Amino acid sequence: MPPTQNPDDAKVIATIQQKGGSGKSTITVNLAAVSGQNNPPAKADDPCPVVAAGIDRQGSLEDWSARVPEDRLPFDYVVTKGRLGEIPDLVKDPDVSRIFVDTPGFMETDPDAPMDADPLGSGPAAKAMEEVLEHTNLALVPLTQEWLTHRPAEFTIERVLKPRGVRFLVVINMWDSGSDREHKELNRLRKWCTDRGYPFASQAIRRYKIHSKAPEDGLTVIQYPESGTALRAREDFYKLALAVEQAI
Ligand SMILES: Nc1ncnc2c1ncn2[C@@H]1O[C@H](COP(=O)(O)OP(=O)(O)OP(=O)(O)O)[C@@H](O)[C@H]1O
Ligand SMILES: [Mg+2]
Repeated sequence: MPPTQNPDDAKVIATIQQKGGSGKSTITVNLAAVSGQNNPPAKADDPCPVVAAGIDRQGSLEDWSARVPEDRLPFDYVVTKGRLGEIPDLVKDPDVSRIFVDTPGFMETDPDAPMDADPLGSGPAAKAMEEVLEHTNLALVPLTQEWLTHRPAEFTIERVLKPRGVRFLVVINMWDSGSDREHKELNRLRKWCTDRGYPFASQAIRRYKIHSKAPEDGLTVIQYPESGTALRAREDFYKLALAVEQAI
């Protein structure tokens, strides 16, 4: 538990990966949806105990959540746009139990900084990230088959999470199960984690086109129209949600 937290405080799950496009927003929104479905408000007019928060100025979380009809959205969402103080307030809010935070794709890094320097640097974006990390119970680090996400995942873990003592779980995302029937690729990614001593979620999130259309269609994984793919896509997020609950 982060030093700033009491047992009654909301738990913060932050998705973080230096590399853009690795699935941070997709993971955050769909996990919040599954968690919200499992923890509905006690009464219809009560606030949702599950909150999705975006600190991203780009606002993917806001754009996406705003397209989901309000009566179908199982979580509340807030967009801090880098303002400080909102995440700590939410953590103390007695109505809130889980906060899923989407973080921006790019961290300011000084290419000439020594290896042991803090890569978050200073500036408003860094301060917002710092505030989230101070309250994070569990960080989720997406890793994909794309080799280019590997080094930034390691960088995020070694230079940002470990020095702050933030617990983390690697989440294998966009796994192409159709072309990896023997799980060679999947096992390679798992070995990448074990070689480094990184804990990973045993359930990988498979790559489905339905996920990439969901923001535009105003859907989260719990609302996908019934199909075999929808079931499998949901299964991935239900299992990941369980792993997250076990880890926090
Ligand atoms: N499991 C998946 N299956 C199919 N498409 C996916 C999956 N995960 C993410 N995507 C798609 O990949 C793209 C990048 O994902 P996303 O926006 O979630 O990444 P991000 O890490 O939040 O990016 P950024 O750093 O730019 O905020 C999006 O088009 C998204 O729909
Ligand atoms: Mg994003």
